[in-house]
Amino acid sequence: MDYEFLKISNEGAICTLTISAPQSLNALNSKVLSEMEDFIDKIDSKILTLIITGEGDKSFVAGADIKEMSNLNETEGKAFGEKGARVFRKIESLPIPVIAAVNGYALGGGCELAMACDIRLCSENARFGQPEVGLGIIPGFSGTVRLSRLVGMGMAKDLIFSGRNIKADEALRIGLVNAVYKSEDLMNNTKELAQRIANNAPIAVCYAKECINKEFDMCVDEAVAYENVMFGRCFATTDQKDGMKAFLNKEKVQFQNK
Ligand code: CAA
Repeated sequence: MDYEFLKISNEGAICTLTISAPQSLNALNSKVLSEMEDFIDKIDSKILTLIITGEGDKSFVAGADIKEMSNLNETEGKAFGEKGARVFRKIESLPIPVIAAVNGYALGGGCELAMACDIRLCSENARFGQPEVGLGIIPGFSGTVRLSRLVGMGMAKDLIFSGRNIKADEALRIGLVNAVYKSEDLMNNTKELAQRIANNAPIAVCYAKECINKEFDMCVDEAVAYENVMFGRCFATTDQKDGMKAFLNKEKVQFQNK
């Protein structure tokens, strides 16, 4: 499928997906969402870390497309929300780590997209917010689900009820982003982290992601048992043998992803 709104670039095991609808500050319309879903469904198994960013230096994603939403009825509104939520859940459920490089506005659906990623890095000019109630709607791509899980119930309610935008420093303070960089340094720093992740044992990284995601909603005993099983599974991999042997021999390991 040729994409109208997505640019894909691969550097070794790192893939960068750039959302490109600059005339609307990369707003998410149905077509953008369909293209993202197609990309995720067919993602190359050789990719070890995915970066998601937005075209230009002003906006990551300025939200769901307000023009498209303006004439929806109740059934259509529900379907639009379900579509975005499904695509974002697929991103969150990818076995590999996904990093959002937030290069400007991450509002509404843009903030929700960033939250569906595993790690968020942003530029100093980034702005985060869930302004939906100012448009007569609520966050529709799982913002009411993920924001409270990331920053706590009180802060999530403040942001969603007020619809206020926050700057990068506040996003860092409340734990919505992991790090803030100068605009010109954002992509280099993101790629450096992506490469650092990709240098590790790929199966172990995927197991770690699966554990953290699944265990979050489990009781402690169930979660500990889940981790025990996954920890054991690591010992069935060649990467575990190679990684530990290399350590003991004081050599550099080259993981085989098996
Ligand atoms: N949908 C559609 N078009 C959008 C858009 C969006 N979410 N955000 C920006 N645009 C368009 C503008 O309409 C404008 O188009 P025209 O040039 O044709 O007029 C263009 O992008 C540039 O935007 P501005 O002129 O407004 O740029 P600015 O620098 O003055 O302001 C901004 C930037 C603060 C991000 C402002 O555009 C803005 O507030 N955008 C809307 C943000 C928003 O409310 N997002 C949430 C959407 S609802 C949602 O996402 C629901 C959900 O949870 C699923």
